[in-house]
Amino acid sequence: MSEKIQAPRGTFDVLGDDALARDRLESLARGILERAGYERIETPMFEATQLFARGVGESTDVVQKEMYTFDSGDGSESLTLRPEGTAPVCRAYMEHGMHKLPQPVKLWYLSSYFRRERPQKGRYRQFWQLGVEAIGSDDPAVDAETILLLSEILDALGARGLRLRLASLGTADSRAAYRAELTAHLRANEERLSQEVRDRIDLNPLRAFDADHPGTREVMASAPLLLDFLSDDDHEHFEAVKALLDAAGVAYEIDPTLVRGLDYYTRTVFEYTSDALGAQSGIGGGGRYDGLMEQLGGAPAPGMGWAAGVERMLLASPAPPVAAPPVDLYVAYAKPEHRQAAFRLAADARRAGHAARLELGGRSLKGQLKQADKTGARYVAILGDEGTSLKDMQSGEQKTVEPDTVMHHIRGGL
Ligand code: HAM
Repeated sequence: MSEKIQAPRGTFDVLGDDALARDRLESLARGILERAGYERIETPMFEATQLFARGVGESTDVVQKEMYTFDSGDGSESLTLRPEGTAPVCRAYMEHGMHKLPQPVKLWYLSSYFRRERPQKGRYRQFWQLGVEAIGSDDPAVDAETILLLSEILDALGARGLRLRLASLGTADSRAAYRAELTAHLRANEERLSQEVRDRIDLNPLRAFDADHPGTREVMASAPLLLDFLSDDDHEHFEAVKALLDAAGVAYEIDPTLVRGLDYYTRTVFEYTSDALGAQSGIGGGGRYDGLMEQLGGAPAPGMGWAAGVERMLLASPAPPVAAPPVDLYVAYAKPEHRQAAFRLAADARRAGHAARLELGGRSLKGQLKQADKTGARYVAILGDEGTSLKDMQSGEQKTVEPDTVMHHIRGGL
């Protein structure tokens, strides 16, 4: 026998209770987002590699080591399985001329994404994200409203151990001044830093706040903070976001060391973590990206959004009791010659809007009745030589009926 083929490392199948839990998450999220005026968008599973190289940023881990990149097949372009959803949604905004619509354009998505990461609990190579993007307004109310939406979704799911961290990165200008200060601080303490941080001082000094290395952490404890470098406008924007979150009763902590793994952020950034998750504690995060559209070659348009990992949201939420969908009618038959009539009855029942099951596994009548019991069917119809008998499983009442009146009987009872 040849060796069994397994799913690739860092991927998983979705089935059973997990599929039901995902359905529940989707309908909860859909309700909350659609009530706030968000419309669903789905973009292709792969995009031009340049979209992510320019959008997410050449210096990020995502672009440097985590993308699944391949040739289009005709040598015309390099393609990449989407590692995230913001750059693709911005591309779609430009491509469909969405700047002509009332702004901001508010979109949501629930799709799978791909990153070549070391798999562990809560970290996969194919994973699902629920996300929103609101493009075309720099009003701080957009920032606060999107954050509030994630907070409501996590609450509705029952996610445990939540913490919301919030910061502002300012605009590119204030960040440039800050970057120079931070780089000087890192250079002055270079010998205490990890090799990885040292190698990236010029490329991405902010990522040093993310390091676990003890020496690096010590150096970062006394590092200058970006929040102290904000321009007056950025400061005002941040204060407005905080005031709106306060008004909505959303609890948060200001974390001046909050670092996001993607380069497009400006001003507001935030992250939800859950202490129910272990090492991969980031449940969802996002922020403002007012310069991204231009970076992708479009006309300037400010944007704000977030994405949350579906697997991590479910890991952090106690599984609700999942009820199997109810079965109205189970059609059983005594002999093979009754199969056609049984098949027709089940099909008719479904056309009439009832949930109906039919024997497909070749079981004996006894076996079929056992199955009917297991599915919790409300009615069981048994087709036999003596006609059709219909049993109401709730009252235990059983009677012989004309085959074409079965529907009439169950409709009366249901
Ligand atoms: P991100 O922080 O890279 O942001 O990912 C968002 C969420 O996706 C994370 O908080 C985590 O829950 C989940 N996630 C990321 N990588 C993995 C993985 N390998 N396995 C399982 N879950 C994962 C973004 O992707 C931005 N596009 C968010 C955004 C939207 N910013 C503005 N708009």
